[in-house]
Amino acid sequence: MSEKSMVPSRLMFCVMLISMFLLVLSSLFLLQFSSHSFIPRSVLELIIVNNSSFYFTPDFKREQIVLPTDSSEDLRFQALKPRESDSKVSNSSEREHSVERQMNIACDQNRALLKVFMYDLPPEFHFGLLGWKGSVNQTWPDVDNPNHVPRYPGGLNLQHSMEYWLTLDLLSLNTAKAGQHCTAIRVQNSSQADIIFVPFFSSLSYNRHSKTQVEGQVSVNKMLQDRLVRFLRGCKEWKRSGGKNHLIVAHHPNSLLDVRSNLASAMLVLADFGRYPVELANIKKDIIAPYKHLVATIPRAESPSYDERSTLVYFQGAIYRKDGGVIRQELYYLLKDEKDVHFTFGSIGGNGVNQASQGMSTSKFCLNIAGDTPSSNRLFDAIVSHCVPVIISDEIELPYEDVLDYSEFSLFVRAADAIKKGYLLNLLHSIKREEWTKMWERLKEITHHYEYQYPSQPGDAVNMIWQEVVRKISSIQFNSHRKNRYNRSQLLVKTN
Ligand SMILES: *[C@@H]1O[C@H](CO)[C@@H](O)[C@H](O)[C@H]1NC(C)=O
Ligand SMILES: *[C@@H]1O[C@H](CO)[C@@H](O)[C@H](O)[C@H]1NC(C)=O
Ligand SMILES: *[C@@H]1O[C@H](CO)[C@@H](O)[C@H](O)[C@H]1NC(C)=O
Ligand SMILES: *[C@@H]1O[C@H](CO)[C@@H](O)[C@H](O)[C@H]1NC(C)=O
Repeated sequence: MSEKSMVPSRLMFCVMLISMFLLVLSSLFLLQFSSHSFIPRSVLELIIVNNSSFYFTPDFKREQIVLPTDSSEDLRFQALKPRESDSKVSNSSEREHSVERQMNIACDQNRALLKVFMYDLPPEFHFGLLGWKGSVNQTWPDVDNPNHVPRYPGGLNLQHSMEYWLTLDLLSLNTAKAGQHCTAIRVQNSSQADIIFVPFFSSLSYNRHSKTQVEGQVSVNKMLQDRLVRFLRGCKEWKRSGGKNHLIVAHHPNSLLDVRSNLASAMLVLADFGRYPVELANIKKDIIAPYKHLVATIPRAESPSYDERSTLVYFQGAIYRKDGGVIRQELYYLLKDEKDVHFTFGSIGGNGVNQASQGMSTSKFCLNIAGDTPSSNRLFDAIVSHCVPVIISDEIELPYEDVLDYSEFSLFVRAADAIKKGYLLNLLHSIKREEWTKMWERLKEITHHYEYQYPSQPGDAVNMIWQEVVRKISSIQFNSHRKNRYNRSQLLVKTN
């Protein structure tokens, strides 16, 4: 009886929910058409008042705390992120006001966080590797129409495709679309740039062109690397700074392998530091970028909740790995026969992606165990599946960890603990529905920081990487300025 009466009320609830959703959606669309995005006025004012890098305005953080948003903390590092709640707070005159201001902040040089100069390397270093051929003397494809942009090869190659997304973003910043957000801007004069971007698709070059037809022949990958080094050494920009203000993407752990020691003075965009000696690459000067996830992102509203995820813990991957990966074997023997545990051997090619997607989205926890490198794509697949990551990789470095607290949505377990009998399962069982749900909610909030896309959107991976570059430049400067403190007096003492 009671069940029958439940049905209509549940139906009513659903109808209400849907109509509220539609209402919000339509108001969002309205705003979108009129203003491209909905930056809170207070933030806009901050940006406008101070012409240039609002990022470094000391008052910025305090200002944000009073913003009327649902999770204003995200704004710490994303002043330009659109927020649904903004539509609630702005009445129409305020909105017009902000539209007007918005026009004014079309991405011009003085307002961008980061000014980037990009070398016009010949196409064989970038889009030529995708099979793109322009007309004579054409260096870059026309990216105005996203449908005509050359495609990056799919499959496993995509994991390391950030070289492509970053380059596309810089190209698009020259077009009209640029007004939408203003993190990085491409400048044509390298003396005005904060950083000099080297548009070499090094991961694709490694993945696709490392093999040679004939024994003893030099591979295309090796040849391109050598030519790149020669090119850079001949550039006044490189000579001026010894490469220090250059940004080079080498996300595949084996990319740029032959010339690392020649290029390591630059800021590198990497997956991890596993295959780099610390003097060549380290967290002080380099940037960790997320892999591009392979499984599809679960829409927030469709994400299975605690009770809908029947598997306690999920891992699928190669089990026998070299180097740090021995722990995978030990865990395998500890966990393989446990109830509610999915721990199997499988590659993620072919149908593996679909299986992993299904498996992760119906699991509460997803294991990320060090493989032959400290990082792996699996972490990002878990994040977009909203499966709480359990990170067992003592040496791992994580993307944007200066602004994201991973402990809010992941669990870290030391390798030495993880292989103690019963330790891991006890730990996972002790995390109850409420605690897990908090982490899950946070996962849903941060998922968009791991999306690579074109055109790039505020707060997505491309945008986050540019912001990370800004912060890295700032911290490198800080360290270098400190080193200069006593130079003058030392010099004076010497000369007197
Ligand atoms: C803003 O930038 C413009 C052009 O660079 C400059 O003329 C103006 O004085 C600046 N205003 C402020 C408040 O810094
Ligand atoms: C290509 O560049 C060369 C050298 O700058 C120039 O002589 C030639 O006319 C250009 N060709 C076209 C089609 O623009
Ligand atoms: C580039 O900028 C520098 C410094 O602002 C300036 O001295 C130089 O003339 C500029 N070069 C060109 C080609 O505009
Ligand atoms: C100042 O001195 C430090 C170490 O003594 C050195 O590393 C740095 O390059 C010097 N800075 C300048 C501007 O010469």
